[in-house]
Amino acid sequence: MPSELIADIGELTTLIDGEERRHDAALVIDDGRIAWIGAAAAAPAADRRFSAAGGAVLPGWVDSHSHLVFAGDRSAEFEERMAGRPYSAGGIRSTVAATRAASDDELRANLRRLRAEAERQGTTTLETKTGYGLDVDTELRSARIAAEVADVVTFLGAHVVPDGVDSRAYVDLVTGPTLDAVRPYVRFIDVFCEEGAFDVDESREVLLAGRAAGLGLRVHGNQLGHSGGVALAVELGAASVDHVNHLSAADIDALAGSDTVATLLPATDLSTREPFPPARELIDAGATVALASNANPGSSYTTSMPFCVATAVLQLRLTIEEALRAATVGGGRALGLDDGTGTLVVGGPADLQLLDAPSASHLAYRPGVPLTRAVWRKGERVV
Ligand code: NIG
Repeated sequence: MPSELIADIGELTTLIDGEERRHDAALVIDDGRIAWIGAAAAAPAADRRFSAAGGAVLPGWVDSHSHLVFAGDRSAEFEERMAGRPYSAGGIRSTVAATRAASDDELRANLRRLRAEAERQGTTTLETKTGYGLDVDTELRSARIAAEVADVVTFLGAHVVPDGVDSRAYVDLVTGPTLDAVRPYVRFIDVFCEEGAFDVDESREVLLAGRAAGLGLRVHGNQLGHSGGVALAVELGAASVDHVNHLSAADIDALAGSDTVATLLPATDLSTREPFPPARELIDAGATVALASNANPGSSYTTSMPFCVATAVLQLRLTIEEALRAATVGGGRALGLDDGTGTLVVGGPADLQLLDAPSASHLAYRPGVPLTRAVWRKGERVV
């Protein structure tokens, strides 16, 4: 791959700890990695030159939470919700029926379409989950297809108990035959610890089975109520606990004193009309936060990380810097990626985006405006 100089960068956000945004900067990409960062005037030659024309450059988004192996549409459920019907875990089962009925090619094409849609908005690292199969065969198909398309795959067999199945028998299936089948394709295990899904004891059993199989842990916790998912995630040292809408003071302290990342999913909160998580309190207490899309056909049908960043700033009261960090470095932490993903650092992956704006602050200052002008993934221009 020829080396490439990205010149004329108006504002460069590296998100390296303690580093301010730079102005009049340049960087060089070589062999999929960042080879050089510095002042535009000192830029070395490269095989190719690309002018950023004064635009803002920053790391590509690390979307650490999505559910993109699915078929079907739930816009009717969404319309009912907007007319006042509350969100519940039960809607998941209609996507399960559609997903089981879909062919591998249909599932793959839908996942590829959504990954491309995310990429056009600056996402360079994408996690996605199983969880709309809920039987051995469809969970396995989902995991295999996810591993073809996404960067990190999570096993969410414990999403809900499928219709007509006893919950004890289902936990045995998830922690036994389904886990064995998906194991080669997945890096994490996850559980929806919530009323209507799995209680704390069942969730612990699922997570411990995943740990015994060598998987990292993540939890859907405290989305619809005080489910105990946050305390469980901290107790087990999970990489992340996601949603975190309903937190006690003890939950906030526990997260702040742990390495478990609290993942904020504000597009979901808008779409389900749940209260926003206490994001300011989490950050002020010292918790590490990530920001992710939770793209899925039920509770959050958007792949747009710029929308999540804008919402985090405008509604959750994060600063621009905090929101950018949560959507990049925070996502990388939640996924256990320690190779520089989510930052622009010499030697790290050349995953970056150029905005049609002079500053990254325009992501929240001009919400809803498509600002992504170019995207490089592993050094290759993809948008
Ligand atoms: O993260 N909370 C559980 N799972 C998804 C919802 C999926 C659905 O409604 O289909 C979520 O919001």
